[in-house]
Amino acid sequence: MSVFLPDEGATAVLAERLGAAMPEQTGRLTLLLRGDLGAGKSTFARALIRSLGHSGAVPSPTYTLVEPYDLPGGMVYHVDLYRVSSEEELRYLGWTELDEGFRIVEWPDRAPGIAASADISVELEYEEPGRRATITGLSAHGKRIVARLDPATATEPVN
Ligand SMILES: Nc1ncnc2c1ncn2[C@@H]1O[C@H](COP(=O)(O)OP(=O)(O)O)[C@@H](O)[C@H]1O
Ligand SMILES: [Mg+2]
Repeated sequence: MSVFLPDEGATAVLAERLGAAMPEQTGRLTLLLRGDLGAGKSTFARALIRSLGHSGAVPSPTYTLVEPYDLPGGMVYHVDLYRVSSEEELRYLGWTELDEGFRIVEWPDRAPGIAASADISVELEYEEPGRRATITGLSAHGKRIVARLDPATATEPVN
């Protein structure tokens, strides 16, 4: 599913719709957030985390690598691998302990192996003056969630 996002608000609405398509208990799930710097990965993650019931700040995990959220639907981990360059570093950060939660991963390709077991991919690209999002279900579970997204989001705006 590919959709044009004219502004930051549209990025947030799409993330909220994805949040609404999630099962009530998010459980074990990995979402990849791909795109260049400034494409809107953190904007998307912030809106998604808030849609799952978090009402406070959503600090960037760029330096902490992982920010955990204990939410009604289960643990959510906002991960940013920008500064990670090997599987070894991932082990050090306790990646496997995040296994049972919902992992939202910015820069997933810094650590080979993560994408292989992911459920959903969200790719954000610059399409001035806005962005384009492409959401793909990777696993059977991820495909079911993506299929539940409001079909209206799959429709191109008139201009
Ligand atoms: N659809 C959009 N159109 C235009 N600007 C956007 C859109 N979505 C987000 N932005 C803006 O782009 C920037 C994205 O920053 P951020 O979410 O931190 O990106 P990333 O995490 O990918 O580096 C923010 O300034 C945000 O306001
Ligand atoms: Mg970011």
